[in-house]
Amino acid sequence: MKKRLHVVTWGCQMNVYDSARMADVLSPLGYGPADGPEDADMVILNTCHIRERASEKLFSELGRLRLVKQARAEQGNATILAVAGCVAQAEGKEILARAPYVDIVLGPQTYHRLPEMVAQAARAAGAVIDTDFPAESKFDFLPDLAAPQTEGGLTAFLTIQEGCDKFCSFCVVPYTRGAEASRPAASVLAEARRMVQAGAREITLLGQNVNAWHGEGPNGTPQTLGWLLRALAEIPGLLRLRYTTSHPRDMDDDLIAAHAEVKQVMPFLHLPVQSGSDRILAAMNRKHTADDYLRLIEKLRAARPDLALSSDFIVGHPGETEAEFEATLGLIRAVGFSQAFSFKYSPRPGTPAAGAPGQIPEAEKDRRLYALQDLLRAQQADFNRRCVGLTLPVLITGPGRHDGQVAGRSPYLQPVHFIGPKNLIGQEIPVTIEAAHTNSLSGATLKEKACA
Ligand code: 5AD
Ligand code: SF4
Repeated sequence: MKKRLHVVTWGCQMNVYDSARMADVLSPLGYGPADGPEDADMVILNTCHIRERASEKLFSELGRLRLVKQARAEQGNATILAVAGCVAQAEGKEILARAPYVDIVLGPQTYHRLPEMVAQAARAAGAVIDTDFPAESKFDFLPDLAAPQTEGGLTAFLTIQEGCDKFCSFCVVPYTRGAEASRPAASVLAEARRMVQAGAREITLLGQNVNAWHGEGPNGTPQTLGWLLRALAEIPGLLRLRYTTSHPRDMDDDLIAAHAEVKQVMPFLHLPVQSGSDRILAAMNRKHTADDYLRLIEKLRAARPDLALSSDFIVGHPGETEAEFEATLGLIRAVGFSQAFSFKYSPRPGTPAAGAPGQIPEAEKDRRLYALQDLLRAQQADFNRRCVGLTLPVLITGPGRHDGQVAGRSPYLQPVHFIGPKNLIGQEIPVTIEAAHTNSLSGATLKEKACA
């Protein structure tokens, strides 16, 4: 009998990917997509713990789903309610104590055991909890299904690495996602080939610490991300490669060289720095200085002069003074980012910074965040404006928002839209950029310009 699955995903691309894989492992059990929770035999909330209010958001959603589950039960329909992801990992027991109507709690390392847990939950009244870090890797168990990740499957995400050994003072990832683990090259290459066969033209390699990838290569020895990018670039039909998220410490020379030598590697890099103050970087346990970062950017730009840069910033880490905050603004000015993410420091229970002295008042964090975001917004607008007049290769991924438009991405990850026929979808074509908007560009194809 056909069953219906509804998955709610919060957080990062890793979670988007994991949600797709959970749907994959459940499909042999007869689960297909539901229209919404009311119509679902199983609901999975795939949670994210990285910043504030994760558990309040979860419990408020669970409260709503409890009513849905009750209403369905009155009609004679059972609903399996599962909580997955990093909040499940960190607060599994509390979830079952506060929301006993939850049937399954599972951490990110155990998705391959989901079918077994569903069977158990269906049989038993008691809830099933599985948040251990198993000795075997979940990469060994997930079915190798081609899972086109986005519209038309033209751009796909492929997880090659999970977990982190860096233990930044503020971050829960080493606790929730466990130690760094790399997927073997053969498995990555096989999945990439299947994605390309299924229509993917761009693949983004994912991992919390993706450039720490050191998966087993063909001769049984560990390889590096630079090597993997070169191997992936051999796949016919794969036009574009990206990878995220990287740590500055793991940007080795070979990976930098890949940006110069491998044409499929896009000239865009998300490289979180978090702060521009050496004292705060040390307190954050980042293991690099502001100058290390700036020198790295110089090397990257020497390899690939048009490289666009993105980063993550945290304002208001415990102890951050005004001068230290200004050092972050100084670093931003020195680099010039095409886009970036910025956050107010949020204490995560169990991490070293949460108990550190010198917690910054919320209003002060707000002020710093607004100032920082003003600067980043101006840099993004400036970057977009500098694209006007250039002809950029754009991978067309779907229809645009307005009639007659198609839309795609520039090499620098900017959304680009222009008037054009739908049969361009799936192609990479040159587009002349005519106008810059806050978060996107508009343009025209050469042919269209000639007729205009
Ligand atoms: N508070 C604020 N921001 C955080 N990040 C991670 N943990 C925290 C925290 N406790 C940010 C970092 C990281 C991004 C994914 O989220 O900038 O790079
Ligand atoms: Fe978290 Fe990234 Fe630091 Fe690892 S490197 S602890 S994932 S912020």
